[in-house]
Parts: sequence; structure tokens; C-alpha cells
Amino acid sequence: MSDVDLNNTCLRIIKVLNELEKQSALERSGSTEISHEESMLAITGDTGEFFSILLSSMNAKRILEVGTSVGYSTLWIAYSLYQNKENSRLSKRSITTIDNNQLKIKKATTNFSNAGVSDIIEIIEGNAIDVLKQLSNNVNQNPDDQSQYFDFIFLDADKENLPEYFDLAISMVKKGGVIVTDNVLYPEEYRPSMAKYIEHIRKKDFVQSVTVPIGHGEELSLKIR
Ligand SMILES: C[S@@+](CC[C@H](N)C(=O)[O-])C[C@H]1O[C@@H](n2cnc3c(N)ncnc32)[C@H](O)[C@@H]1O
Repeated sequence: MSDVDLNNTCLRIIKVLNELEKQSALERSGSTEISHEESMLAITGDTGEFFSILLSSMNAKRILEVGTSVGYSTLWIAYSLYQNKENSRLSKRSITTIDNNQLKIKKATTNFSNAGVSDIIEIIEGNAIDVLKQLSNNVNQNPDDQSQYFDFIFLDADKENLPEYFDLAISMVKKGGVIVTDNVLYPEEYRPSMAKYIEHIRKKDFVQSVTVPIGHGEELSLKIR
């Protein structure tokens, strides 16, 4: 891809992100009637910016996301993959993203196409636990094949199953890779689930983890061995 094509794709991603941000702002203000089932429930813009910087600095290439919704966070992740020109020319980049809501997947598919990034994104429709088990089996069948491991995994689906998601995710993230979990601080109704989650991960001596108070609160967990 030429520099011009890369710049054009970045501009297209930003355009779609801007449109989705308007939609997200309307949802948050409560000025539009939308069911929980249909709402974006997206990360905040500064969280997206944070992800993009983190991913670029890690030179992350293989990313897994649990909870696509309409693709807002996915597009921030994609932005980091196109922004890094050397990386985008030299290496294979991919985002695998999972959701179980057909309507949202349809919207995400349109958003990825409008942003010109469909070729690097695979959407898997299904229940997160089933898909994670399948992906983890694939990775662990060839444990020496480093190319199968993910650099970055973002957990942003239901909160009750987070400890199980984390245990499956940690088996698929490479050493030095990062798992990020949204909603550690907000909304407050998630706090009991989040407290159990934090207790679960902070017991693990192979993980260094910290809560970053940006957006809804992001738990950043580094696999140290
Ligand atoms: C908070 S939204 C994701 C927002 C998105 N990451 C963003 O920031 O733009 C959570 C998504 O997870 C999906 N979801 C919830 N429970 C799930 C499950 N058990 N399996 C798969 N997807 C699930 C929902 O359909 C919803 O689209």
C-alpha cells in the first residue's frame, strides 16, 4: 500500500469514527430512543486515542476483540494498524472481533466497508465463550507457532464471564502482550462483577495489571511470562 493509500484509509476511518461519535453522544445524552439491545455502548473517544497510541507503541499486529458492537473500538484499533506506515507495509496485520448480535454485526460490517478496512478485519458471530474456546484450541494445538498468538486482546462483552474470558485470553496472548478490559470503573452497576474480575487477575503472578482511569476505566494487564 502506498503512503497516499494509507493516508486515505486513515482519513476514511476518522470520518466513520466521527459519525459514530455523534451517534454515541446522542445515546449518552438520552436524547434518542434506542433499546439497550441496539445501542452502541462504545468506548469513549479518549479511550480510542489511548488504544491507538498503545498499539502503535507496542507495534501490535494481531489483535482480538470480544464485543464488536457497531465497530467503534475496532476502528480505533484499525487506525493504529494503518497509521504505522512501516508496520503496514512489512507485516501481516489482522483484527478478529467477536459479537453475538446480528444487527450490530451488520452495522459493523457496513462501517468497516465505509472506512475501507474490511480486508484486515474478521468478524466472528457467536457466543464469546464458545468462540474463545475454539480460538484458544487452535492456538494451543501449535504452541510453538508464535505467529498464532495475539499481541493485544480487548475484552468488552458481558461482564459476568470476564474471569473465564481472561483465562482463555491469557493462553492466546504472547509474552509481552496486553489484555485490556473496559468498564472497570463505570457504569457503577458493573462494579461487583469488576471487583471479582480484578481479584481474579491480580492473584496471577505471571500478569502485571493496573487500572487506568480513562473513559469507563480500563484494566491493563501485561503478560510478563
Ligand atoms: C459494550 S458493547 C461493545 C462496544 C465496542 N467494543 C465499542 O467500544 O465500540 C458489548 C458488545 O458485546 C456483545 N456481547 C455481549 N455478550 C456477548 C456474548 N456472550 N458473546 C458475544 N458477544 C456478546 C453485545 O452484543 C455488544 O455488542
